[in-house]
Amino acid sequence: MASASSSKLGQPTRRIDGRLKVTGAAKYAAEYPAENLLHGYVVVSTIAVGRIVSIDTRDARTVPGVLEIITHNSYPGMSWWDRDWQDETAPPGHPFRPLHSDRILFDGQPIALVVAESFEAARDAAALVHVLYEVGEPNTDLRAASDAAYVPKQKRQGIQPPPKPRGDAEAAFAAAAMKVEAEYTQPSEHHNPIELFATTCVYDDGKLTIYDKTQGSQNSQAYVCGVFDLKPENVRVLNPFVGGAFGSGLRPRYQLFLAVMASLKLKRSVRVEVSRREMFYLSYRPITEQTVALGADPSGKLHSIQHDAVQGTSRFEDYQETVVNWSGLAYQADNTALTYELAQLDTDTPGDMRAPGAATGVFALETAMDELAVTTGVDPVELRKLNYTYRDEDNDKDFTSKALHACYREGAERFGWSERNPEPGSMRDGHQRIGYGMAGGFWEAQVVPAEATVRLNADGTAEIKAAATDIGTGTYTALALVAADELGLSVEAIDVEIGDSDLPTNSVQGGSRMAASAGTAVLLACRAIKERLLKQAQKTKGNMFAQAALEDTIFENGSIALKGDPGQSVALTELMSDGKAIEEGGKASPDKKVAQNYLGYTHSAVFVEVRVDDDLGMVRVVRVVSAIAAGRIMNPKAARSQILGGVVMGIGMALHEEGFFDHRTGRIMNHNLAEYHVPANADIEDIEVIFVDEKDDLINPMGVKGLGEIGIVGVAAAVGNAIYHATGKRLRDLPFTIDKIIA
Ligand code: MOS
Repeated sequence: MASASSSKLGQPTRRIDGRLKVTGAAKYAAEYPAENLLHGYVVVSTIAVGRIVSIDTRDARTVPGVLEIITHNSYPGMSWWDRDWQDETAPPGHPFRPLHSDRILFDGQPIALVVAESFEAARDAAALVHVLYEVGEPNTDLRAASDAAYVPKQKRQGIQPPPKPRGDAEAAFAAAAMKVEAEYTQPSEHHNPIELFATTCVYDDGKLTIYDKTQGSQNSQAYVCGVFDLKPENVRVLNPFVGGAFGSGLRPRYQLFLAVMASLKLKRSVRVEVSRREMFYLSYRPITEQTVALGADPSGKLHSIQHDAVQGTSRFEDYQETVVNWSGLAYQADNTALTYELAQLDTDTPGDMRAPGAATGVFALETAMDELAVTTGVDPVELRKLNYTYRDEDNDKDFTSKALHACYREGAERFGWSERNPEPGSMRDGHQRIGYGMAGGFWEAQVVPAEATVRLNADGTAEIKAAATDIGTGTYTALALVAADELGLSVEAIDVEIGDSDLPTNSVQGGSRMAASAGTAVLLACRAIKERLLKQAQKTKGNMFAQAALEDTIFENGSIALKGDPGQSVALTELMSDGKAIEEGGKASPDKKVAQNYLGYTHSAVFVEVRVDDDLGMVRVVRVVSAIAAGRIMNPKAARSQILGGVVMGIGMALHEEGFFDHRTGRIMNHNLAEYHVPANADIEDIEVIFVDEKDDLINPMGVKGLGEIGIVGVAAAVGNAIYHATGKRLRDLPFTIDKIIA
């Protein structure tokens, strides 16, 4: 069929920005040139709690090229109000104000900015800044702090508190024939995208052009305007390319503040780039303790689910994520009780990291489900099918679509799950024990307000503009595909301009919602253009299109045609022979009626094979099959990459990643890539991604759901479950390192 073959959405498409990236032409925040550029280097605290008694900058000032050293003693005036410092995704509390006072709240806190004519001079001088502290007593140990855990008074925007209990979970648990109850713990995980946080602030007579590593240019712009009391027309923030962010760039980071502060003070352009070490202090997945209790009958049918979580936060903000709510809607159960608490630690405020909350909560739930499978003797996949839910019982809503059954079926088949001998330790290959494990994954499919303009030029090319962000997720290509698909143009004919606060309003790129939200805005803009083109066609080609509505037409190969009669067509360039471009705006917003009655979710089933060395306890993840239900897939090539990345990060969570705090000093001990391990190529073997068919007419006009986060969810549990199957040893404390396996 003509319409199917011409559809651009769903075709594996190379990144349209790929050439720029591989040739180095794509610039990142620290790469933008500026005349007479100054360089800032951050001095950070070497204690976790206390106060600065004195900062001696005399030696540092002798370094040639040093212009200025800014500390809390020379802090220029800033807004007093918390709200001016709060950003789009800020948790409730008092946002951190760099260099604001002599108080130290966490290890690695910025305490001075050295500004010099060269990066090297600034760095040398920073080493000569002498600080005298009064050292306080830190607590960075969640176990010690959790006695004082509390339910957050104010909820973080966009984060749902746990739902009300259903039935009587405690009584149902007590009465259950089959019980599983266990504690699950995980350490801090630290953000390590390739691009470091950096800001180049170009100063031009009071006007600032700011290149910032961020997941939202307009979020950074609003922050700078709030903190420094500047007018938006004098502050433009650009982030056309972002070298990975994974949630770390959802909030403005201190280098943005420091670069702008120095720039305004010195009336010069200033760049501040943090080092890899500082990345470890900036934002991290929170330290978490959870308990899950499942009660079932002998067949494995769940009757009671209890899930409690405590997470570490800072002393000044109540960071929150959705950790336990998944347990209320993952499976059918008449009795549930879910609780969520925070405990204050002397650390920086934790932050969002890929699938925040779900990566954590689903790890506990899906490990507990595997334990229930062992207890009941029911196959893990069958156990999940037995407890399948078609509704979100907590909110009494249907899912807009849920093809999780297909994930179980297709994933198991491709993986060869039926060859699994359920007996732990029964499968081996020489001195390697083989383990097969699986888990389910859950994530929201959000749509948030987003705007875009599309301009169709008379020569048949089109331009998209939106203050959207591409953090490596493929936004450029996704938006081009939407416009190409709607307008019937080739992808090459579409120019995409994003990553600029001057462009139409968009939120931060997070929550796996950019493609669905900005994509819908582009779609709506294209539809408005098509309406105008159809009117034009009716005017000039009256006979052919007189009775036609937009639904009766097809736009393809640069022409408009009647659906029933594709032979009858007119070239768009002919309709635009007056040479005038057609520009329209599109505004996406969540459908209120749909939101009232439905829940938009993505689902997955992850299957993992591990090999565990008998003598060395070394674990290798040799095979992963990730089956994903995420609605219509816009670009299978980019979509597959998203899931591959999620699985790799999940393997890091399962086997490698762990921030070590020395609780005596409250300091992070492994703030480098030698001692904080992330998966390298040698750690990764076969990963296969399946997208199951899932048609969704409700979630948004395109039927697409986000893919940035679902890929990581469930992976750590699946790896742990596979280790159990290989060894008979149940691990509940992430990461699953060798010491825990041979212990
Ligand atoms: Mo994501 S953790 O919402 O960038």
